[in-house]
Parts: sequence; structure tokens; C-alpha cells
Amino acid sequence: MDKAVAALLLSVGLHSLGAAALDNGLAITPQMGWDTWNSFACSLNETVILDAAKKIVSLGFRDLGYEYVVLDDCWSAGRNSSGYLVPNKEKFPNGISDLADKIHASGLKIGIYSSAGTMTCARYAGSLGYEEKDAAVWASWGIDYLKYDNCYNQGEEGTPKLSFDRYNKMGKALNVTGRPILYSLCNWGVDGPWNFAPTIANSWRTSGDLSNVWDREDVNCPCQEKEGIDCKLPGYHCSVMNVLNKAVYYPSKAIPGAWNDLDMLQVGNGGLTDEEAKAHFSLRAALKSPPLMTNVMTKTDAPTLSILQNTAVLAVSQDPLGSSANRIWRYYVDDVDSNGKGEIQLFSGPLSGGDQLALFLNAGSEDRNMNASLVDIFWEDGADGTAQQIGYSWDIHDLWANRMSNETANAIINGMASGSNGTMNMTAMGGARKVYSQVPLPSSSKELMGSKVGSVKASGTVTAHVKAHGVAMLRLRQQNNKDEL
Ligand SMILES: *[C@@H]1O[C@H](CO)[C@@H](O)[C@H](O)[C@H]1NC(C)=O
Ligand SMILES: *[C@@H]1O[C@H](CO)[C@@H](O)[C@H](O)[C@H]1NC(C)=O
Ligand SMILES: *[C@@H]1O[C@H](CO)[C@@H](O)[C@H](O)[C@H]1NC(C)=O
Ligand SMILES: *[C@@H]1O[C@H](CO)[C@@H](O)[C@H](O)[C@H]1NC(C)=O
Ligand SMILES: *[C@@H]1O[C@H](CO)[C@@H](O)[C@H](O)[C@H]1NC(C)=O
Ligand SMILES: *[C@@H]1O[C@H](CO)[C@@H](O)[C@H](O)[C@H]1NC(C)=O
Ligand SMILES: *[C@@H]1O[C@H](CO)[C@@H](O)[C@H](O)[C@H]1NC(C)=O
Repeated sequence: MDKAVAALLLSVGLHSLGAAALDNGLAITPQMGWDTWNSFACSLNETVILDAAKKIVSLGFRDLGYEYVVLDDCWSAGRNSSGYLVPNKEKFPNGISDLADKIHASGLKIGIYSSAGTMTCARYAGSLGYEEKDAAVWASWGIDYLKYDNCYNQGEEGTPKLSFDRYNKMGKALNVTGRPILYSLCNWGVDGPWNFAPTIANSWRTSGDLSNVWDREDVNCPCQEKEGIDCKLPGYHCSVMNVLNKAVYYPSKAIPGAWNDLDMLQVGNGGLTDEEAKAHFSLRAALKSPPLMTNVMTKTDAPTLSILQNTAVLAVSQDPLGSSANRIWRYYVDDVDSNGKGEIQLFSGPLSGGDQLALFLNAGSEDRNMNASLVDIFWEDGADGTAQQIGYSWDIHDLWANRMSNETANAIINGMASGSNGTMNMTAMGGARKVYSQVPLPSSSKELMGSKVGSVKASGTVTAHVKAHGVAMLRLRQQNNKDEL
């Protein structure tokens, strides 16, 4: 049994109703894709991008919804004498317009990067003061997505208004092009973008850059989360747990078209154990953080493929209700990790069709049984809520129960089976978006619902065995028959 040395029941907000998101028709569910930065940094070029795009298609990622291929920093060669950005000719001998055509021809979309400053973080030309010209040139190339950073911002931050004004300029410039361009803010959580960005952007980073590590203290990421206190210092080299613990205060800000972004996925990049990578991926889905892969696509291994292609978890990320899970409780525990901390947490929240998500996180160093009452899991209904009063029983589905085997994953990687074979042929079913947006998801689909592992009656408790640095991700579905009260 675990000794809870501290407990915190957080007064987190309900998912908001009727708040307005940016009206560009994009990111109605969290955007999915792949970004160059974590694996290639400044050594990106046309070859590595097209090779990655090919794999995104042939391994089946595209058909599961991973749509955007994003060129991060270092694509540019500066401005020409008319003030327009030009691509680096060695990296992109055929230009970016040509690359965009090729990406589009493979059924994918293309993203690009800049900074709301005089320079990008890698010291290439930034877009501050050039918003219209830059938006116009990207639109003319066929760009579908902008990741917009915060380096060299000339001190134009420190109040939400300063940050809003600086980022709104680019939002307006993108709109003026007439091309729908997904607008992804990367201002590291400075000035609370969850408050100022939802009307101008499709997503905003909640904190500093994520490192490829589960948990650690780092002098570069000094800001520790504390209830109700915004971290003014965004930091970088932040761990998975650090970024998570900073992001739990704003679940209600995530709405269709406007998402909290906890930074890109580190699945397949070598820094996380298999359990940690599963937990990281699951929590991002629960919190509606856009799933952007960053692994070297051409070197994708079986465990990586089978995490990133878990459609039961992706169906939570892409759930049409678009409601982020809340952290319901957090307890510190005695078994600690190398960082001298151990903690367990419960996340839950509504899914479409009346389903409910329950996610146990075990960030202690020992495997443990975790449990939660239906009152906790249906926290947003209040103590007398529907789960209790109506007296229904709920089926419990384990969303990791049908993880693709290494054998199937390797067959896909070795070209012996086609990409969508290991999961489901979403193309034949009308496309990923249509499959994820079925209400209710068909109970018979193990690919979308996982496996039924038990049931729970009103007033009952849900229990799961959770590995160290792992999660249990459960989907509760109401049974048809009403129990006697
Ligand atoms: C849940 O688990 C904890 C720790 O193992 C235990 O103390 C508690 O009694 C359990 N609660 C229920 C309702 O089973
Ligand atoms: C592209 O980048 C890769 C990886 O950095 C490198 O191996 C390759 O030589 C580069 N190709 C070109 C055409 O620059
Ligand atoms: C600069 O780039 C823009 C956009 O690509 C182009 O229309 C213009 O002709 C270029 N100007 C010069 C001087 O090369
Ligand atoms: C531009 O903004 C208007 C008003 O919000 C919106 O209706 C329109 O769809 C936007 N266009 C693009 C291309 O984003
Ligand atoms: C899948 O392969 C990885 C190593 O490639 C291994 O660690 C893991 O145990 C395998 N999983 C199963 C279920 O065999
Ligand atoms: C799909 O994968 C299974 C292994 O899980 C294999 O037996 C089957 O032949 C594959 N089918 C196709 C069409 O590739
Ligand atoms: C999936 O369905 C599409 C459209 O029906 C078809 O062209 C494709 O070959 C199928 N893929 C697999 C792996 O069966």
C-alpha cells in the first residue's frame, strides 16, 4: 500500500462552453504530424524531409491522421533585396514551393517555422516587422502551417497585451493571404497564452522546450510548478513531468480549434523507456496536446511504431468533443525516482458519446495498484453526479490492451505488410477524421476501444495495476442496463 505524504485536490475548471476559437476552420481536433527539429535541428534539407514524408505514408502514419510535415528552424537563407524570405539553396535546391508540391502530392500538408522576433532562435531572419511579406510568400509556396517562436522579440513581452499584439500581427497577416494556414504559437507560455491566444491561434505552447527525459531538475528549467502560480520563466530542457505539471492548470482553455501544446512528442528519440514513452503519449492525448512526432522516420523501430499508431489512444486525442482531461488528484509517494520525487496522479474527463476517460499516472519508482472512485472519475458531475445517481454500471476498456505486436510492427517496417494493416484501414473507412469522430465509437472495435477488462457499478472503485513511470489509460462506457438502486 502506498503512503500518501501529501494530497492535493485541485479546483480545476470545467471545460468551457461557447468560448470562441480562431475562425480559420483548422485544428478542429489537435493537429497531428511530424516536425524536423528534435531529430535534425539545423541539418534539415529536402532529402531528409522527403524521405520522412515517404515513410509517414508507407508506414501508415498518414492514414491514421498524421498530416502535417513541419520544417522547423534553419530552412532560410535570409531576405532578398525586396525583403522577402528566401530558402537556403543548398538545403532546398528546388525551392520550398516545389517541396510543398511534392508533399501535397503524397497526401500530406506542409508546415514552416519563424519567430516573432528579429531573428529565429538559430539566428536566421525573424518575422517581426515583416509579417505581411512573410505570410504572403509562405502562402505563395503553398504552406499550410506556421510554427511561430519567441526568440529575439525585442522585449515586446511582459504583459499579455504586448504578447497578444505581437502574435496577432502574424495571425492577421496569415488570414489576409486567404490561404487556411494553421497557426501554432511557440512563446513558451510567457504571459499566459492560454488566456490571450485562443482567439488568434490554433495552439500555443504552455511552457519551455521539452527535453528527452522523464524527470530531472535542470538549471535551465528552474521554474517549478506551484498551484495557481504562473511560471514566468519558461526555461528549456524541461522534463516530461515538469511540462506536465505546469500544464494541468488550464484544461478548460483547450477547445476545438485552439489547443494547449505541451511541445512535440519525444517517442522514439531514445531518452524515454517504453513505459515512459507510452505514458508521455497517453497524457498528451488526454490533454489534447497536438501529437507531433519528431523521431527519425527512416529509423522507426517496432516499439515506437506501435506506440505512435495506437488508434485507441489517438481516438482520445481526436475525440470530437475536444475536451481536455482534468487532473483530479495528485499524491506524493515514498518510492522516489532519481530526482528525489515520486508522485501519482489521476486524470479524467468526458469523451463524446457519454464515455469517460480515466487515466492513472504512476510517477513513482515502484509498480503499484491504483484506484479511483466513480465520484473522482466523474468529478465534473459533482459528488451527486450522474454516475452515482442514475446507478448505471460502466464497462472499463483498457486502451493499451491491443497494442500492435512487435511482429506486426516489424512486418510493416520491413515492407512485408502495408502500413494500415496493423491497425485499421481508415482510408477505406472514409478517412481518419471520420473514423475518430464516430459517436459513439463502435464497442466492437478493439482498435478504437481497446479491450474490456472489467466493469464497475455506481459507488464502485476502478482499480488498475500501473507500472513505474507508466499509466493505465481506461475508457469507461455506460452499460445499457440500469442497475437496481
Ligand atoms: C485505494 O488504494 C489505496 C492505496 O492502495 C488504499 O489506501 C485505499 O483504501 C484504496 N481505496 C479504495 C476505495 O479501494
Ligand atoms: C541532407 O541532410 C542529411 C542529414 O543531415 C545529409 O546526410 C545529406 O547529405 C543532406 N543532403 C543534402 C542534399 O544536403
Ligand atoms: C524576392 O522574393 C520575392 C518572393 O519570392 C520575389 O517575388 C521577388 O522577385 C524577389 N526579389 C528579388 C529582388 O529577388
Ligand atoms: C479570416 O478571418 C475571417 C474572420 O474571422 C474568417 O471568417 C476567415 O475564414 C479567415 N480566413 C482564413 C483564410 O483564415
Ligand atoms: C518489442 O521489442 C522491444 C525491443 O525491440 C522489446 O524490448 C519488447 O519487449 C518487445 N515487445 C514484445 C511484446 O515482445
Ligand atoms: C496483416 O498482418 C498480419 C500479421 O498481424 C499478417 O498475417 C497479414 O498477412 C497482413 N496482411 C496484409 C494484407 O498485409
Ligand atoms: C485501404 O483502402 C484503400 C481504399 O479502399 C485501398 O486503396 C488500400 O489498398 C487499402 N489499404 C490496405 C492496407 O488494405
